[in-house]
Amino acid sequence: MTSVSDPISEIEESAMRELGRVSDSSQLEAWRHGYLGRKGKLTRVLRGLADLPLEERRSLGAEANRIKLRLQAAYQEQRARLEQDRVAKVTEGERLDVTLPGPPLPRGSLHPITQTLRDVLEAFENMGFQVVEGPEIEWDYYNFEALRIPADHPARDMWDTLWIDHEGDGRRSMLLRTHTSPNQIRIMEHTQPPIRVVVPGKCYRFEATDPTHEWMMTQVEGLAIDDGISMADLKGTLTEFARRIFGEERSVAFRCDYFPFVEPGMELRIDCFICRGEGCRTCGRTGWIEILGAGMVHPEIIANAGYDPDRYTGFAFGLGIERIALLRHGVDDIRHFYANDLRFLQQF
Ligand code: PHE
Repeated sequence: MTSVSDPISEIEESAMRELGRVSDSSQLEAWRHGYLGRKGKLTRVLRGLADLPLEERRSLGAEANRIKLRLQAAYQEQRARLEQDRVAKVTEGERLDVTLPGPPLPRGSLHPITQTLRDVLEAFENMGFQVVEGPEIEWDYYNFEALRIPADHPARDMWDTLWIDHEGDGRRSMLLRTHTSPNQIRIMEHTQPPIRVVVPGKCYRFEATDPTHEWMMTQVEGLAIDDGISMADLKGTLTEFARRIFGEERSVAFRCDYFPFVEPGMELRIDCFICRGEGCRTCGRTGWIEILGAGMVHPEIIANAGYDPDRYTGFAFGLGIERIALLRHGVDDIRHFYANDLRFLQQF
């Protein structure tokens, strides 16, 4: 007797065979539609059951249901496998090889002012000076008063000041230090001679900028105090410094100058590197560029520090790092240093 179960087992076989060949989700959905969908082959068989006699309906029904469950399970399995393959393919293409070297990082270099500052400090360290630092926000007292520049003294005009809090009282007014000289006082307050220090730091002035002036600049203060220090020590130290930084061939000149905290006071100039002394825009037509102020520490300041002014003398100087960098590199405008143009900075 030909059994009605023959076509149904054929349906099972062909369904499983076709499912094995399905290779993507749209084929899989077509397969499901073809067998298990509303008009699918198996669904049709199940629908036809109602017309069969009870006996056949039972056995065929049981068989058809078994097949239905099997195909549904096979469908789920195949779907999961396809999804796994898809994910594996995507991640395969994106996999990171963590052992690969990273993209090269461009190497920066030190800012020309930092380079010059380091060279200057090294020159002084080699001459026996110690490097110390002080605050950028300073009291009027240290920046002016203790340096013999009282309020209303005309010498205050030498330093156009950026005030933070101006109370008209030296011990309560704060400012951005206009020079590193307040460190002379700070150091003397808590040190006994012999003293030989250099103090690097940023200073601020409220002034119009031009090729040799900026509102922010870097200074290095020098202070030496001991038994019997003389002007000859000062000139010798600064000449040696200039020789180390600029080379032997450069001309240096000492000239009288006035600063309330030194007596006598002087300035050190170097011949202009642009015009070689002829006079140009950079040197303000003088042929010289002033790089530092200096002098013998005023005896009153020595006495105020509690040192014996008959025994101790000393010298101080304050030099501008930007000016020195201009001279060394032949740059004609100080403002280039802080304009942050990489085309300029990358040359150093
Ligand atoms: N502080 C002075 C200035 O900024 C420079 C100076 C320092 C002069 C030490 C004499 C002694 O102009």
